[in-house]
Amino acid sequence: MAVLPIVKYPDPRLRAASEPVENFDDGLKQLAADMAETMLDAPGAGLAAPQVGRLVRLVVITGVENDENYDDRVITLVNPRLVRTEGEQLYDEGCLSVVDFNEKVLRAAEVEVEAQDLDGKPFTMKADGRRAVILQHELDHLDGVLFIDRISRLKRDIYQRKLKKMQKDAAHD
Ligand code: NI
Repeated sequence: MAVLPIVKYPDPRLRAASEPVENFDDGLKQLAADMAETMLDAPGAGLAAPQVGRLVRLVVITGVENDENYDDRVITLVNPRLVRTEGEQLYDEGCLSVVDFNEKVLRAAEVEVEAQDLDGKPFTMKADGRRAVILQHELDHLDGVLFIDRISRLKRDIYQRKLKKMQKDAAHD
């Protein structure tokens, strides 16, 4: 396994629509293992393949114990699809690809996701609370959507100004 470099906004790879996985081969298992290691190393609660520069529909999330803690039991979702949503919740989100920024995002309160495991076997996952947020956030990545697309324009502009300043400061170091 290996920790992979994480692609950072505004890299255009974060804006691409990812391709469905068709071959459940060793390459896929290797990528999933590397993504799991990368996520746990960051640490983060979820990671989508485009965030390591691979435009395939593959997501890893941690095994969430409760709203505060997560552990290192990684769940892998191949070709995940949101098949049901219910209610609304406002939840503070961040992203390993969007550095130094958190903002509240309106999401569905409950979700049902259909996916395949690394052998291609279909399964269904139901989630609410924080895990429902993580699933929606990671599935968005597969369509080139970031959480900053789901906040107000004003707040997004504030982040973009902050990012420009960070890049300028970094250039002066
Ligand atoms: Ni993210």
